[in-house]
Amino acid sequence: MQPIAGYVVAKVIDSGHSNFKKGDLVWGVAGWEEYNIINTPEDLFKIQRTDVPLSYYTGILGMAGMTAYVGFYEICAPKKGEYVFVSAASGAVGQLVGQFAKLSGCYVVGSAGTKEKVDLLKNKYGFDEAFNYKEEQDLNAALKRLA
Ligand SMILES: NC(=O)c1ccc[n+]([C@@H]2O[C@H](COP(=O)([O-])OP(=O)(O)OC[C@H]3O[C@@H](n4cnc5c(N)ncnc54)[C@H](OP(=O)(O)O)[C@@H]3O)[C@@H](O)[C@H]2O)c1
Repeated sequence: MQPIAGYVVAKVIDSGHSNFKKGDLVWGVAGWEEYNIINTPEDLFKIQRTDVPLSYYTGILGMAGMTAYVGFYEICAPKKGEYVFVSAASGAVGQLVGQFAKLSGCYVVGSAGTKEKVDLLKNKYGFDEAFNYKEEQDLNAALKRLA
């Protein structure tokens, strides 16, 4: 059996690779286990800043954050005042996209699959509006109503 692979934050305890030395902190894809032999160091990023919680490197400073950042700012590239709709809005990427959109001065509507998630979007993540897509018959009508 193999351990599940996923995003991790780890400390190097030994290294034969010139880019990494003992004591370095890294994030990237590896097995979810206490000790790991990593043969694909190109999958690892060295952690330069440690003045934030290291868990951020599995979220906003890791792949979810990069995905949200590049998708939103470089591909979507909205302008201040525009309307942004985020589906799967309470997920790892969606909640960041919604918050980036608010920081950019957009009006943000999110959809999620439960009342608890909808409440979170409106009350914690600062979305202007949110709805439960499982309770809507027509996405366009929901968006017209809320935006
Ligand atoms: N996380 C990353 O680093 C990363 C990197 C590259 C690409 N992506 C892609 O970005 C997307 C979101 O990833 P994520 O990490 O944010 O996922 P996530 O945290 O696992 O959230 C995904 C959410 O999607 C919603 N969902 C599932 N089925 C749905 C459906 N049929 N219609 C509408 N919503 C549905 C679920 O929330 P509800 O209960 O609200 O339905 C689920 O919680 C995925 O397509 C993923 O492959 C993610």
